[in-house]
Amino acid sequence: VIDIRKLYAQAGVFTYDPGFTSTAACDSTITYIDGEAGVLLHRGYPIDQLAKQSHYLEVCYLLLYGELPSAAQLEEFETLVTRHTMIHEQMHNFFRGFRRDAHPMATMVGVVGAMSAFYHDSTDINDEHQREVASIRLIAKMPTIAAMAYKYSIGQPFVYPRNDLDYASNFLRMCFSVPAEEYEVNPILARAMDRIFTLHADHEQNASTSTVRLASSSGANPFACIAAGIACLWGPAHGGANQACLEMLREIGTPDRIPEFIERAKDKNDPFRLMGFGHRVYKNFDPRAKVMKESADEVLELLGIENNPTLQVAKELERVALEDPYFAEKKLYPNVDFYSGIILDAMGFPTSMFTPIFALARTVGWVSQWKEQLADPQLKIGRPRQLYLGAAARNYVDIETR
Ligand code: ACO
Repeated sequence: VIDIRKLYAQAGVFTYDPGFTSTAACDSTITYIDGEAGVLLHRGYPIDQLAKQSHYLEVCYLLLYGELPSAAQLEEFETLVTRHTMIHEQMHNFFRGFRRDAHPMATMVGVVGAMSAFYHDSTDINDEHQREVASIRLIAKMPTIAAMAYKYSIGQPFVYPRNDLDYASNFLRMCFSVPAEEYEVNPILARAMDRIFTLHADHEQNASTSTVRLASSSGANPFACIAAGIACLWGPAHGGANQACLEMLREIGTPDRIPEFIERAKDKNDPFRLMGFGHRVYKNFDPRAKVMKESADEVLELLGIENNPTLQVAKELERVALEDPYFAEKKLYPNVDFYSGIILDAMGFPTSMFTPIFALARTVGWVSQWKEQLADPQLKIGRPRQLYLGAAARNYVDIETR
């Protein structure tokens, strides 16, 4: 009989770190987070400066290429992205194969994975040009795919991209325009949409990004890797939290019910958690949540719904939770998802679209990390080990004698 623990001991150093709470899986130059101080930097630039002074496609350039672009570089990049916004007409038929009541995330996982079939001329990861084309295709087509997943789910005709519009306006129009009625994009809403994209662009080695890296470490093609990231993002502990948060705020309904939900969140026998609170890395205010909160105020004021009952509940819940010793002791602060759902709801998006919007915004982060990983000469297939606690080796027993 083999003594498995002895084998591990003989193998030398072995770390056991469930959930990777203190183990780096890679090195990276893209994003820096100081969770204790509530700091988030992309290529060194603070997220609040990027969200307020830059815009999404410029941040995409920064994440992908490491530096802010010159005016000419930005124009060239934006033109390139704009030229790739359409998806192949055959893909429209592919969409039609899904049940119309499918969750848009389910459709997106399928459609993005299927891009390896539709765009197999950019799946060779050893060809630098193909890698570049795949990156641009993903960033350019994701709004079209997300908007189509939405239109399909509500039974409306697909709206083709309009290349004279900026990235965020184009997305809003593809979601909300209906035939025979031209949709006028409100610039304040377009700016808020762009800011949501910017605030979700990258967040170092979160679960979905780690999934993309792990998938890519085997040499899988870019579309397969990003589809894996989308699938991971869907979970309610990750990208699904903004949907879950808004549903929770609606369930609470009125501020007087907040204490009941706070007590439930503290009760260890109740699986309920305050959605939009807590973060694996931030043990302080999520810097993205601060900008998102300002954006929420702007959008609700514009739409004349600053007295929106969901926002009232959110504001009061935030106040009560921040004063509660349980949340203070566990360093649970509102995260980016706490306010993004309120803005998206006010814009007219159903909750099922919240995570697809997160996925489209995060695509550039996934792609940047994927490119960085492939450029690493030390790249090895990701192969976590395990601490085996099962039965020791034993002999097979015939069914008659069991
Ligand atoms: N409500 C109540 N209690 C909480 C919450 C919460 N939202 N989050 C954590 N806790 C408690 C846990 O019960 C645990 O208590 P214990 O020490 O007594 O067992 C302690 O705080 C630590 O929690 P962990 O789950 O160990 O922390 P972890 O880092 O693994 O989890 C996570 C982080 C998943 C984000 C968690 O805080 C959570 O579930 N939050 C709600 C979902 C959410 O908002 N997710 C969005 C994340 S941000 C993003 O993906 C963009």
